[in-house]
Amino acid sequence: MNKIETRNLSIWYGDGRVLTDVNMKIKEKCITAIIGPSGCGKTTFIKAINRMIDLTHIARIEGEILCDGENIYDDGIDVVELRKKIGMVFQKPNPFPMSIYENVAYGPRVHGIKDRRSLNEIVEKSLREAFLWDEVKDRLNEPALGSSGGQQQRLCIARALSMKPEVILFDEPCSALDPISTSKIEDLIVELKKNYTVIIVTHNMQQAARISDYTAFFLTRGELIEYGSTSRIFERPLDKRTEDYITGRFG
Ligand SMILES: Nc1ncnc2c1ncn2[C@@H]1O[C@H](COP(=O)(O)OP(=O)(O)O)[C@@H](O)[C@H]1O
Ligand SMILES: [Mg+2]
Repeated sequence: MNKIETRNLSIWYGDGRVLTDVNMKIKEKCITAIIGPSGCGKTTFIKAINRMIDLTHIARIEGEILCDGENIYDDGIDVVELRKKIGMVFQKPNPFPMSIYENVAYGPRVHGIKDRRSLNEIVEKSLREAFLWDEVKDRLNEPALGSSGGQQQRLCIARALSMKPEVILFDEPCSALDPISTSKIEDLIVELKKNYTVIIVTHNMQQAARISDYTAFFLTRGELIEYGSTSRIFERPLDKRTEDYITGRFG
């Protein structure tokens, strides 16, 4: 089943084109990695998928992005609901300057859940799902910013999970983390695909090869050069440019 499909998706910032006619079908409950050199439009691509890009006023979008068959750029779309359904985790861990508990309870609270017991349940479930519960259960009321970088990133994942999303977008989630924290997040992401559709931008070829089911390789101005199963892309790239990139000859 396809969860997300882009049709002739092109994006400009002012006059500068950053995505060019991207046609891509993204499978449900799989991990899809987006790779390509810096500046090729990876962040722009995933920000278009939950309309975070709407916040960049100079961005202009053409084409369609379907989620469950519905164009998310249609007039009737409720963007708040869309961003609940399609959560995002950023490059640098960005917990709110509040307690661990409040970071996870924040979203559900804003969406009207006030009952303490329900909030407690959501917080525990989300922290467990993010492989963080055991490390923080005795200090839920301490500031999130006192945790390590890896814990902060898992907290941001828990925060995304608290909204009960169906799709989670990750923008280089490990680029600020050490190898041990990175490996924990990788294990976590692999676990998440049982229940969620995951799209991950990564600079790290080994990471894409290790955890993803499908890989998309983008080049300058967001051209989708090659897209397919991760094993095929890494073992038998069809395009010379893909081969050069994954073997580290450029980028
Ligand atoms: N808000 C913005 N305004 C203008 N140009 C931008 C903006 N954000 C990104 N760009 C430019 O768009 C291109 C693609 O950026 P980005 O999607 O961040 O690429 P990547 O994530 O692959 O590094 C880059 O040339 C970048 O400089
Ligand atoms: Mg980026």
